[in-house]
Amino acid sequence: MKVSTVFCLALLFFSLGGQLALAADVKLPPPQTEGGMGLFEAIKKRSSAQGSSYNSAELSLEELSTVLWAASGLNRPDKWTVPMAMGAKPYCKIYALGSDGAWLYDWADHSLKEVAKENLKPKVGAQDFVERASYVLIFVSDPSGLKSFGEQKTQDQLAAVLVGAMTQDVYLAAAALNLKARYVMSLKAPVVKEGLKLADGENPLCLLVLGK
Ligand SMILES: Cc1cc2nc3c(=O)[nH]c(=O)nc-3n(C[C@H](O)[C@H](O)[C@H](O)COP(=O)(O)O)c2cc1C
Repeated sequence: MKVSTVFCLALLFFSLGGQLALAADVKLPPPQTEGGMGLFEAIKKRSSAQGSSYNSAELSLEELSTVLWAASGLNRPDKWTVPMAMGAKPYCKIYALGSDGAWLYDWADHSLKEVAKENLKPKVGAQDFVERASYVLIFVSDPSGLKSFGEQKTQDQLAAVLVGAMTQDVYLAAAALNLKARYVMSLKAPVVKEGLKLADGENPLCLLVLGK
């Protein structure tokens, strides 16, 4: 590769704040599924990062892949890393917001599907550190997967239980990978719904703010 090409690529990389621009749809690299920190050490280390500690350092795609897989990836041919009521397919969706767009996590083929080209991080949270995250995960209840579970109250409970399991897995994966994580409930729901083009009845439940 010519020196000028390397220079241009480096310029592009740093102009994006060190984050490699993701394509529209991204096949994620395989998640880390063995080795690394032991479970009990990760539980011992689990904590919420201080908002003031978020900086411009970016997660690698491998780290994002492992975190998303921990949240709701397949760990058996037809079952997931978190328990689903009646073994149903995941009834909460996970969106990943980065500096150059927003993507829906597709657990079936462990990929990201683009939903926006805009950096939504500065808009979705009520606290200023959210925009300094490398990625902001947004957990959204999916009425199409929940409707078979009966009344609204039951559906809301099931979604809350699932998001609790998903976010705890993210916290533990983040601890094991030495990443920053913070569960954040304060979010701007109308902005999230518009930015992610959510359907009627799809409700953003929380953010998980990731950094390095
Ligand atoms: C349901 C829930 C909602 C939370 N909402 C916010 C929030 O809106 N903003 C924030 O900065 N932290 C939020 N947090 C993070 C808590 O403040 C944090 O977990 C708590 O201080 C305990 O710290 P630890 O996670 O390190 O044990 C939330 C945590 C939970 C469990």
